[in-house]
Amino acid sequence: MDTLELAAHGPVIPVIVLQRVEDGVPLARALVEGGVRVLEVTLRTPVALAAIARIVLEVPQAIVGAGTVRTAADAQAAAAAGCRFAVSPGYTDAVGGACRALGLPLLPGVATAGEVMRAQDAGHSFLKFFPAGAAGGVPMLKALAGPFPDVQFCPTGGLTPANAPEYLAVPNVPVCGGSWLTPADAVAAGDWVRITALARAAAALRPA
Ligand code: 3PG
Repeated sequence: MDTLELAAHGPVIPVIVLQRVEDGVPLARALVEGGVRVLEVTLRTPVALAAIARIVLEVPQAIVGAGTVRTAADAQAAAAAGCRFAVSPGYTDAVGGACRALGLPLLPGVATAGEVMRAQDAGHSFLKFFPAGAAGGVPMLKALAGPFPDVQFCPTGGLTPANAPEYLAVPNVPVCGGSWLTPADAVAAGDWVRITALARAAAALRPA
């Protein structure tokens, strides 16, 4: 899979943090029910890999990837859990090389022109722009389009339902990411109805 295909399923990729392994499957079902199939489950909690493995097994409609992949070992564990793609907050040759060796498509993070160049050198032309809000937001994405007309970005970090349409209106942004579809309190309460509603609204977002 080319990571750019992830953008074909809708305008927003949810960035998911799971505290309990048993939340993964109902959460994934709730998102799929709302029309959101591409799911980034971050490796930020001890239960993430086990939750990913269960989602892969029980929610076949979901296209599950691992987020917060920071090391080669993370990439190997993500592939072993059945992830279809990996997202990293930044690019390193160790993570890039591991993903290549595993055949695991990687969406690497960048925040500066030099980082774009390093990721491009390694063959990546679809990049996560992170942390989007803090690293310059929409004006930065527009500025990067000048020297990098052949690069596309998934901005993540600081996006909201209110500002996501402005990001999606930038021509080099085919999709964006955010944690607002899966609020921690809704996940903790098992409020899957609320999450389906948030997913439905996100899936319907259009460029401003
Ligand atoms: C990420 O990991 O990509 C971000 O933490 C998600 O950022 P948000 O919580 O601001 O959406």
